[in-house]
Amino acid sequence: TFVVTDNCVKCKYTDCVAVCPVDAFFEGPNFLAIDPAICIDCALCVPECPAEAIIQDTELTEEQKPYQAINAELSQQWPNITEVIAPPDDADSWNGVPDKLPLLER
Ligand code: SF4
Ligand code: F3S
Repeated sequence: TFVVTDNCVKCKYTDCVAVCPVDAFFEGPNFLAIDPAICIDCALCVPECPAEAIIQDTELTEEQKPYQAINAELSQQWPNITEVIAPPDDADSWNGVPDKLPLLER
C-alpha cells in the first residue's frame, strides 16, 4: 500500500488522482489520503506528485509512519477525488517545509 505523507499537507497538488486506476484517493481540506483497502500498489501515482509525498508503506521513515494510520482513518471520512483541481495559491511555498502534521485539517 502507498501512503500520502507529510509533504502533501498544504501542497495538495492533486496530480496523483488522475493516474490512479482504482480511484483510491480521498480529499480533505489541505491533504489527500489513500484508502489502503483500495490501493493495488501500482506505484503510478508516485512520480506524478510534485511534492514527492507518496511513499510505499514499507519505506516510511519514523517521521512518516504516523501517516499510515492517518491515511486509513481519513480516507474513510473524506469524499473520493478523481480529477485534478487547482492547488492552494501558496502550495509551492509549502513544498519542502518539514513537520506539517499540526497543520493537517480534518
Ligand atoms: Fe492508486 Fe496505484 Fe497510487 Fe495505489 S499506488 S494510490 S493504486 S496510483
Ligand atoms: Fe498531495 Fe502530491 Fe497528490 S501533494 S495531492 S500527494 S500530487
